[in-house]
Amino acid sequence: LHIAVLMGGWSAERDVSLMSGTGIADALDSLGHRVTRVDMDRAVATRLAEIKPDLVFNALHGTPGEDGTVQGMLDLMGLRYTHSGLVTSVIAIDKQLTKQTLVPLGIPMPGGRMVKTADLFERDPLPRPYVLKPVNEGSSVGVAIVMEDSDFGNPIAHDAKGPWGEFDELLAEPFIRGRELTTAVLGDEALGVTELKPKSGFYDYDAKYTDGLTEHVCPADIPDDIAQACGRIAVDAHRALGCRGVSRADFRWDDGQGADGLFLLEVNTQPGMTRLSLVPEQARHVGMGYADLVQRIVDDAMA
Ligand code: DAL
Ligand code: MG
Repeated sequence: LHIAVLMGGWSAERDVSLMSGTGIADALDSLGHRVTRVDMDRAVATRLAEIKPDLVFNALHGTPGEDGTVQGMLDLMGLRYTHSGLVTSVIAIDKQLTKQTLVPLGIPMPGGRMVKTADLFERDPLPRPYVLKPVNEGSSVGVAIVMEDSDFGNPIAHDAKGPWGEFDELLAEPFIRGRELTTAVLGDEALGVTELKPKSGFYDYDAKYTDGLTEHVCPADIPDDIAQACGRIAVDAHRALGCRGVSRADFRWDDGQGADGLFLLEVNTQPGMTRLSLVPEQARHVGMGYADLVQRIVDDAMA
């Protein structure tokens, strides 16, 4: 097949996308496909119209490659592409819309609400501890955890590592103590559960992409009922949102609360495919190498 790999772009996750896209393009090369690497820019439609690929492999993360914009463009152009379609992407990129879609179906997610960034100067939006996050970013860009003893009145001024200045509103959620778990769904099946144990702090951008900063325990050392619940919730969410190909469900588990302490945080429709990423790691654990995984995503898109 002639496959255009879309990567890069201008989201905060540009560098992650370049890593995902390069890995994918190299794998497609090794599989014998004809590969064109496309660094996403505003002329991408013209470029794709010239290339006329059989398939677009979407290796973008964040806006506009994960939020439905690129999906709509590709729909309009009549080009086949990997991963989720327009409507799924619009919902899943937005952590609040995701909740509004999944909680009524019985999927456990943390409460919380949108807060005006300016109001954070005045008061805590929720009882501490709580998490502040942009509603539509990935890789923990702009995420801050405000603990009881955080010694500041103004989390924005003191704790902003991400590009918070750009966000008029943030999502505030109760912080769930305990453990960080993730489950990939490929096709309609859960691959397994990985626990992420950052060596310090939380599983933030640096902990995600710097070798050695986070221990990945795959499969997670957790009770069977929790592992099964992760799989069930991940598949239910994947189906309810109408995800295609691959997705990854991220969880917090308050291990003092048993199964009642398990909460889905979000569903990622364009999960990372870098060397340290979790979907390739879970695939490897079930005997599927990186190139096999990439071919499987291609097959799902062509089916
Ligand atoms: N947003 C990053 C790429 C992920 O979910 O893996
Ligand atoms: Mg995410």
